Amino acid sequence: MKLSRRGFLGAAGALTLTSCGLDASPGQTAELLTSEAPLPEAFKVPLPIPPVKKPLRTAAGVDYYRVVQQKASLEILPGLKTEILGYDGLLPGPTFDVRSGRATVVEQVNQLDVPTVVHLHGGHTPAASDGWPLDLLMPNGEHHEHAGHSGMTGGDVKSGSRTYTYPNQQRAAALWYHDHRMDYTAPQVYRGLFGLHLIRDAEEDALSLPAGDREVPLILADRAFAADGSFRYPAADDGPGVTAKYMEGVIGDVILVNGAPWPVLEVDAARYRFRILNASNARRYELALDKGPARLTQIGSDGGLLGAPLEHKTLVVAPAERFDVVIDFTQYEPGTEVTLLNKLDSGRTGQVMRFKVARKAPDDSFIPARLSAYAAVPEPSGLVHRQWRFRRGNAGTHQGWTINGRPFDPENMQATVKLDQYEVWSFVTDVHHPVHVHLAPFQVLRRGGGKPGPYDAGWKDTVDIRPAEVVEVLVRFTAHRGKYLIHCHNLEHEDMAMMAAFATV
Ligand code: C2O
Ligand code: CU
Repeated sequence: MKLSRRGFLGAAGALTLTSCGLDASPGQTAELLTSEAPLPEAFKVPLPIPPVKKPLRTAAGVDYYRVVQQKASLEILPGLKTEILGYDGLLPGPTFDVRSGRATVVEQVNQLDVPTVVHLHGGHTPAASDGWPLDLLMPNGEHHEHAGHSGMTGGDVKSGSRTYTYPNQQRAAALWYHDHRMDYTAPQVYRGLFGLHLIRDAEEDALSLPAGDREVPLILADRAFAADGSFRYPAADDGPGVTAKYMEGVIGDVILVNGAPWPVLEVDAARYRFRILNASNARRYELALDKGPARLTQIGSDGGLLGAPLEHKTLVVAPAERFDVVIDFTQYEPGTEVTLLNKLDSGRTGQVMRFKVARKAPDDSFIPARLSAYAAVPEPSGLVHRQWRFRRGNAGTHQGWTINGRPFDPENMQATVKLDQYEVWSFVTDVHHPVHVHLAPFQVLRRGGGKPGPYDAGWKDTVDIRPAEVVEVLVRFTAHRGKYLIHCHNLEHEDMAMMAAFATV
């Protein structure tokens, strides 16, 4: 097993910087990888719902779980088998549905043939459980020395199983967990290592939001398939031309929702709550319904409920962002078919899934004008400002993506940040970069010097930054001291080193 390369695109030295991969679509910073397998007919398979993970046991204030990372062969395209790497052998993995303030302790068992790292995205997590990219979990039976190699000092390496502790000391929100292994996050997430982690609390319980069968996760992920049904993904062996081509990011031509291609969901003529997660490596979506006057009513963002609902005609969702959205199907007659579109693309990738309004039904849900106690924090004066520049670049032998001119170096803390103090961070881009900060959510203060954008409301942990744009955010870290990360969540950019470490002190 070779661990010493920039995994996704192999030897970084072989890369040359090509022109922007904007030919795929003007809204995408990525290159399209097409399927060799025939694309299935849309809107035939029912939307699958990932199972809710059951605890092994519960104790005072703690729930204990065990997840086995294993390969599985799934029928994603009709008549073909796809080998995946899955939490419990599932794609997406099981959904954790937990209470704010109750700790989740997860024993992760690695039965794969590659090292893994689990990160809880959006989690207010102690550093030891945050999934530092070198804190590898080696496959069962493999020894620690396999993890060490030149030029990379080890993290806390374990073999077989490792226990992650999530305090869940944070408000209700849709978090997600996914692989975070240094240099290999993109291929490992692509092959299936991602799932939802929902936190609930009393403030949310007090509302009468759509619930039960009317609260539905929509986990978006695009993929490309080889003729035999296996996932296509560029590899170092494909040669330097290919590696250079895909450094912009990989997008596929099949849209999966909860692991099924262009699925269909039968709904009552009632309100539904959709927990939308973009788990794609690099694809952005602009979601819209094809039958007006439909609106997407946003009730929450990455960091939980908004103060008040926001109406959108279309909703741009960048990789790793979550949107909590209500769709009111009472406006449609039974028998109506409503398609969820992706307006950033046309053709097959311009469609996401379909809703079939089946019947009239009672609905006692209610979307109040005031959803939560959330209110924007006024920007205090005299704060520390830090700038993070996200650019394509060279640094010595590294050719790829950089932050403040440097590729990721686990030994170098690019910032030391005091706990409990607000800071203003500004993110500056060359091309599109969805920027993510670990440990604490932030509020968007300004976009391009003006007001925040239409999708920036609430507490965010990932913000979509357009080409040559500056976004300023207000951030404050609390409780946990240690090493944390800021990085681009275009996973190919992340693996090509667009990541930086900072220390909280
Ligand atoms: Cu969703 Cu550092 O990751
Ligand atoms: Cu990026």
